[in-house]
Amino acid sequence: MQIDLGRPNKKQRLFLTERHRHVAFGGARGGGKSWAIRAKAIALAVKWPGIQIMIIRRTYPELQANHIRPLKKLLHIGVKGCPIKYNDSNKIMTFPNGSTILFGYCNTDADTDRYQGTEVDVLFLDEATQLTEQQIKDLNACVRGTSNFPRRTYYTCNPGGKSHGYIKRLFVTREYQSNEHPEDYSFIQSLVYDNDVLMANDPDYVRSLEALPEAKRKAWLEGDWDSFIGQVFTEWRNDPAHYKDRLWTHVIDDFDIPPSWKIYRGYDHGYSKPFSVGWFAVDHDARIYRIREWYGCTGEPNVGLQLTVQEIARHIKEIESTDPNLKGRKILGIADPAIWGSDTGESIEDMFEACGVYFDKGDHTRLAGLMQFHYRLSFDQYGLPMFYVFKSCTHFIRCIPLLIYDEHNVEDIDTTMEDHNYDEARYIFMAHPLNPRKNMPKYDETTPLPPEDPLNLVTVKPERSYR
Ligand SMILES: Nc1ncnc2c1ncn2[C@@H]1O[C@H](COP(=O)(O)OP(=O)(O)OP(=O)(O)O)[C@@H](O)[C@H]1O
Ligand SMILES: [Mg+2]
Repeated sequence: MQIDLGRPNKKQRLFLTERHRHVAFGGARGGGKSWAIRAKAIALAVKWPGIQIMIIRRTYPELQANHIRPLKKLLHIGVKGCPIKYNDSNKIMTFPNGSTILFGYCNTDADTDRYQGTEVDVLFLDEATQLTEQQIKDLNACVRGTSNFPRRTYYTCNPGGKSHGYIKRLFVTREYQSNEHPEDYSFIQSLVYDNDVLMANDPDYVRSLEALPEAKRKAWLEGDWDSFIGQVFTEWRNDPAHYKDRLWTHVIDDFDIPPSWKIYRGYDHGYSKPFSVGWFAVDHDARIYRIREWYGCTGEPNVGLQLTVQEIARHIKEIESTDPNLKGRKILGIADPAIWGSDTGESIEDMFEACGVYFDKGDHTRLAGLMQFHYRLSFDQYGLPMFYVFKSCTHFIRCIPLLIYDEHNVEDIDTTMEDHNYDEARYIFMAHPLNPRKNMPKYDETTPLPPEDPLNLVTVKPERSYR
């Protein structure tokens, strides 16, 4: 049987011959990603008799439109005499040499449970950034077995989506954790301009990408991973050049908190997710500083989830008795109101109280809390926000810019993201509500210089000068 796959373009050829354990392809719209997956899956199935392949998309209709239907057509499945079969009920395509392609979808975290116990040699995640980091990790656990077949995961992706940050870290900024090996990862960028067929046949498609609003255009046309669609806190700035002068940045150098500033502790409990503790200082202008954090998730799977309330309480007390900015201070705790509820008698708050860690009930009003976040992050005419983060609070700095809007509840953030530190900060902000502030989005030559001591630091602590 002859299968005519057509001719790959230059980038697709690179993808088809790439041999790393994890290969990402694309990073923009229309670069020929889904085509490349179909071609690679067929090539592997034919070359390695008995190989098991799985292709995943987030939803079943997308899976059908992008892979099942085009593959059935390309391979003449259903036409009399075709030796390749497709079983619609278990969604498996079987080749005469015993190779199989399983088609799967993962709309919710529970959907990945269906694939627990499935073993595949090669996994394709089409539009991987639309899956969550957890789903990607769970699906990768299926790539195992004892055969001599290549064992690989191929990711195609566009910037934006639930695992934007995860995919960007692995393939674009290449920052690795101890359990990840840099030599396992490779990224081939493919833009619509690399897709010769589409450029020749559908110039309108390219023009429609060029006409998109800036954030979408940069992400989808230029493959820019720094600007992405759906980001909630587009005003967020992390500018190391300004960590010292604290202008037009939210992240700043750590410093000693003056004794007269009030200290708060925010807490979000992790029922099925990690917990998060944040410590905040409030200056005499009601400006809030995140000065310390303890995040229940270290990035390693499930770390933090195993801790009991008593263990969490003990470590909170240890931090508060040793951190120079917290030691000996009065600290007011504010927590997720859900920890007051209990079906079984003793609530989580009761348990904390028994350990000597006290909390007031946080205000959980979601949209008002989100607006407080925006008001606090917005810059005034000098470039001063009402909220700063010490650069040592690395988890908060990582998570906040990655939050995206919820697909259904479009005004709120997507709560399937890592939002625990967002939540505990929100309780602190709601306890210090601000009036709306207009965001001054950027610095240019018309921006006035700030007054001599806009952060009032000199009056608070004479030995510290503003710059
Ligand atoms: N090598 C090729 N030969 C023929 N047609 C191709 C080739 N590569 C891509 N195409 C066609 O170009 C169009 C876009 O390709 P594809 O759908 O694979 O892109 P994509 O990167 O997955 O796009 P999106 O970002 O919209 O998901 C499709 O019609 C596809 O069939
Ligand atoms: Mg596609």
